[in-house]
Amino acid sequence: VLGIAGSLRQASYNRGLIRAATEVLPDGMTLEIFDLLPIPVYNGDVEAQGFPEPVRQLRDRIAVADALLFATAEYNASVSGVLKNAIDWASRPPNPPLDAKPLAMMGATPGMLGTSRAQYHLRQICVNVNLLTFAKPEVFVANAAEKFDKQGNLTDATTRKYIRGLLEALAAWTRKLRGE
Ligand SMILES: Cc1cc2nc3c(=O)[nH]c(=O)nc-3n(C[C@H](O)[C@H](O)[C@H](O)COP(=O)(O)O)c2cc1C
Repeated sequence: VLGIAGSLRQASYNRGLIRAATEVLPDGMTLEIFDLLPIPVYNGDVEAQGFPEPVRQLRDRIAVADALLFATAEYNASVSGVLKNAIDWASRPPNPPLDAKPLAMMGATPGMLGTSRAQYHLRQICVNVNLLTFAKPEVFVANAAEKFDKQGNLTDATTRKYIRGLLEALAAWTRKLRGE
């Protein structure tokens, strides 16, 4: 699984969610993290000269992953720009690596809604790029300031259980899509 957080700040709650996922993996699952910091803002003129090296790495790492795990921040009731930008780069031909890739999503905010609005927009975007996600379980982490320490490490045991459940569902979903 390739884990991608839709936030660049070091103490990000969403980076913390992806790190926490590495600690609650179901048997047989491995999770690598891709940091979006070096990914440039999408520019068609740049693309016309060839994918920049960080974008090439992102696309290659997605292509070889069996499944993806996104942790999206919520900005103005939608997906964070950095995550949308990464999806945009990865959606471009040739052979867009997002196509038919199994996906699980989650997200954390300091507010009450726990990225629910961002995740519903993210689901819409997924339809367009043919990222295949499942309906349940959903993981909306609200009131994040009470669940993470100052470095952005998840300290809440209940949230950890929800992440574990999401990863189990992702494993089952990935196998189902492969007809296993
Ligand atoms: C431009 C901007 C817009 C935001 N809009 C929302 C929002 O609509 N809903 C929400 O719950 N939090 C919103 N926030 C607060 C973010 O959820 C908060 O900064 C969060 O910590 C970002 O995720 P991170 O911790 O992974 O960086 C917004 C923050 C910024 C900078």
